[in-house]
Amino acid sequence: MPNEIKDISSVDSTSFPYIFEQNVDVPLKAASGLVRVNVYRPKTEDGARVPVVVTYGPYGKDIHYKDFHPQSYSEVNPEHHSDHSAWETPDPGFWTRNGYAVVRADERGLGQSPGVLDTMSRGTSDAFFDVVEWAAEQPWSTGKVGLLGISYYAGSQWRVAARHPKGLCAMIPWEGMSDYYRDRCRQGGILSNGFIKFWWNRQVITNQYGRPGRSARNWGPDTIEGDLSEEELAANRNDQTEDNAANKFRDEPYYASKEYNMGDIQVPLLSVANWGGICLHLRGNVQGWLWAGSEFKYLRFITGRHDLPFYYHEEVEIQRSFLDAFLKGEDREGWSVKGKVAPVSILLRKGNVGFNDAEAEKVYTRREETEWPISRTQYTKFFLDSTGSLTTSEPLVKRSEKLSYKALGTIEQPELVKFETKPFEAETEITGHVVAHLNVSVTPYSGSESIPTDIDLFVTLRYFGPDGKEVFYTGTAGDPVPLTKGWQRVSLRKVDSSHYKNKTWLPHRNYTSADVEPVIIGEVYPIDVEIWPTNVVVEKGGKIIFEVASGDTQGAGIFLHNDAVDRSKEKLDGLNHIHFSPHFSNYLTLPIIP
Ligand SMILES: *[C@@H]1O[C@H](CO)[C@@H](O)[C@H](O)[C@H]1NC(C)=O
Ligand SMILES: *[C@@H]1O[C@H](CO)[C@@H](O)[C@H](O)[C@H]1NC(C)=O
Ligand SMILES: *[C@@H]1O[C@H](CO)[C@@H](O)[C@H](O)[C@H]1NC(C)=O
Repeated sequence: MPNEIKDISSVDSTSFPYIFEQNVDVPLKAASGLVRVNVYRPKTEDGARVPVVVTYGPYGKDIHYKDFHPQSYSEVNPEHHSDHSAWETPDPGFWTRNGYAVVRADERGLGQSPGVLDTMSRGTSDAFFDVVEWAAEQPWSTGKVGLLGISYYAGSQWRVAARHPKGLCAMIPWEGMSDYYRDRCRQGGILSNGFIKFWWNRQVITNQYGRPGRSARNWGPDTIEGDLSEEELAANRNDQTEDNAANKFRDEPYYASKEYNMGDIQVPLLSVANWGGICLHLRGNVQGWLWAGSEFKYLRFITGRHDLPFYYHEEVEIQRSFLDAFLKGEDREGWSVKGKVAPVSILLRKGNVGFNDAEAEKVYTRREETEWPISRTQYTKFFLDSTGSLTTSEPLVKRSEKLSYKALGTIEQPELVKFETKPFEAETEITGHVVAHLNVSVTPYSGSESIPTDIDLFVTLRYFGPDGKEVFYTGTAGDPVPLTKGWQRVSLRKVDSSHYKNKTWLPHRNYTSADVEPVIIGEVYPIDVEIWPTNVVVEKGGKIIFEVASGDTQGAGIFLHNDAVDRSKEKLDGLNHIHFSPHFSNYLTLPIIP
């Protein structure tokens, strides 16, 4: 029997520049139970009501940023340092100074919120819905609510917005995936286990409601109602690492229950996508923007790490201007005027400025566009040939040839083939979606008993400057990353051509159990591989390299796909081939901007 729930809310009006209410109960409507939130609100003289910025997520409303990630906090713009700064969320010091209340909720089953921990589930999203409506109903609230946060605090926004909670007026998903299956868990159908495991063990179960020893570890206060036993903790959570390994297809209830219709999102939105977020969030920000039904929707591309740009002075001014427009009715830029603010703002990556260097990235320039993908894009085929070159003229192949590499390459020992362009003769911009068309097959090793039944494709696009050196960009964690990547399991190659999201520049796959098609030894399968959107200004003399690998390669960082069951030897081990012949052509389609 769980410990009895106490009323533990407290109000402090004197210790901070804002009123701090801690552990306020938000009763849940759909299910019984409650979620606990902290409220930070300005000390308005006449008791005037204020609009509200809400976050709801797992990382602990009471864990100070400096404890959660000391190094990152030391690099955050000091304008966003306060007594209650927290990882990936809006800083209460800053936002209360600017006339907003901040409501920060502990997700159900985490921190001080009792209940079953079930990250990214429909049930926990229901609780988020209740928190938004609650924030709109408070006596100190104007009834207008905005969503603003990074990563988890962004990814959770899409689904709740699709359900229209009362009071929701604007959302800013800052680097937030929107498609649980395709963006996060099973990229191209392949289990993305590395990140999920790291994330789960570092920052989710460590903050489970009832987890003993949090305070001793400087990981927020202990659970007010007391610790739970290991058995109770285990019974009270759905482990994302296990659930993602156990479920493979979108028609299984685990994934199906997390679906929503992006077109149902109606609220004004500003989707912030990071070109360097090539293994988790980038795709979702672009797709979410593309398919949201909102009349006012904006897509802004940035670069830099996932933790810092959210707090850059100039980026916060954009957040504030957007929220002021829709929550306060103070529209200085014209966000709410059709045609006034360009819907798409692109940061152009030109030159080699190094990585993890925010100052150096300031040389990148911005350009506004009225649509995405850019309508003047010239989709240009770059053909692969068996000598490893990538050319715009179709190679004349006289006899059948193939390039082969071993399956099951690893980040330590990649197995791959690469294709390289000639130095570009003129500066050339590449901005948009990339697709690779490949003709692939698998055969067993000679003398081997085991018969492979699948092929996992890992493809990467890299850029080399005129000096011949590879240009690395800032990845999510500040690590060096190439331009972009794509993944595809060949047994899940079936494309749903009739789906409204399927485009010549982006194959759409259903990934249901009914989509599984056989991969037979020696058969050649044509396949279109989705590659995540990208941007680079190729300089005169610069080169593009395209790699096809059988496992993770450079730039994957912690986003590894190496689960021993999902990518078993029995299933995959063998030789993978790319076929070239008068009938089998292989090409990369690049979005060239004239
Ligand atoms: C994909 O799934 C939808 C239903 O979700 C179905 O209507 C469609 O036929 C499927 N496409 C293919 C190619 O199987
Ligand atoms: C679906 O996507 C594929 C791959 O991008 C493309 O070849 C095909 O033309 C698309 N179909 C439609 C109807 O757009
Ligand atoms: C790829 O291979 C198939 C054989 O399975 C062939 O029919 C097809 O023409 C090839 N496609 C291209 C574009 O080369």
